[in-house]
Amino acid sequence: MSEHSTFLKDVNDGLSQQPKYISSHYFYDSIGDKLFQQIMDMPEYYLTNSELEIFREQADAIIRSFEMNPAEEFELIELGAGDGKKTQHLLQKLLEKDYSFQYIPVDISANSLKVISNRFKNLFPDLKIKPKQGEYFHVLDDLFTSPKPKIILFIGSNLGNMEDKVAKKFLLKIAQHLKTNEKLLLGLDLMKSRDIILPAYNDATGITRDFNLNLLTRINTELGGNFNLENFEHAPEYTEDEGIAKSFLKSKTKQNVYISALNKSFEFEKDELIHTEISRKYNDEILGNLLRNTQLEISQKFLDSQKYFADYIITKK
Ligand code: AVJ
Repeated sequence: MSEHSTFLKDVNDGLSQQPKYISSHYFYDSIGDKLFQQIMDMPEYYLTNSELEIFREQADAIIRSFEMNPAEEFELIELGAGDGKKTQHLLQKLLEKDYSFQYIPVDISANSLKVISNRFKNLFPDLKIKPKQGEYFHVLDDLFTSPKPKIILFIGSNLGNMEDKVAKKFLLKIAQHLKTNEKLLLGLDLMKSRDIILPAYNDATGITRDFNLNLLTRINTELGGNFNLENFEHAPEYTEDEGIAKSFLKSKTKQNVYISALNKSFEFEKDELIHTEISRKYNDEILGNLLRNTQLEISQKFLDSQKYFADYIITKK
């Protein structure tokens, strides 16, 4: 199926179900990519700075935890590479220490890959970089065709957008590809008070609101929808016991929305929600449960000074 027809089908299915749902996967068009860049720069979105601090301050120890032989060429594969600002610190240290490796950023956005490749080529003329475009769940099989040792980077708490069941499947798939003693560096946002987490998803300037509402703009422009954005509001929540931040779009009135590509109207009650995203928060126990029976084990954990975020080194047994 083409990208467009998958979007159409997912919107039709999601708006027909109860409660209504659209995957956060669809946030990231060119406007969404830019809004996410702005989110990472917001003071409320502590995740980026916390993880950046870990990479900046502890890159040496992280590299040691890889247990790689500097002389044997390995592949450093980054799933969902984004803008590369955190990875930059790791790459710089690896190059300084004369490690022999190829850096393989994987991203669904061809545009982000181009930006990151150009940036790194300028910064690190000696870096061997082999970008790979695709959705990481799908391209995983292609990435493991060479016999070279591998380190997988999956940072930014991107795992948190997956339901636990899906996350487990994903980790299992990575485990099946890794050889004994190869590692996954997994960056996860940790469970903490809602006073810290909720503002990260409900910033004062409304960037996250625009990010969430951009889904409706996409339906309007790509599928001929007539969503009036004034009639929906950004409604995030976080429950500390569950440890999951959830984002919704809430209908301010009872209304109908027509989508011409479907030749169909959808009815919204006043206060009815469209669920658009989960961002799970973790601790050792939750991660341990996801890793159970996968042959993956936590071997180290790097925390920022506030203990908001963790980069786990996970080893294939
Ligand atoms: C890119 C998935 C880590 O869930 O925190 C930021 C996306 N959504 N603000 C997250 C996001 C709303 C982000 N991840």
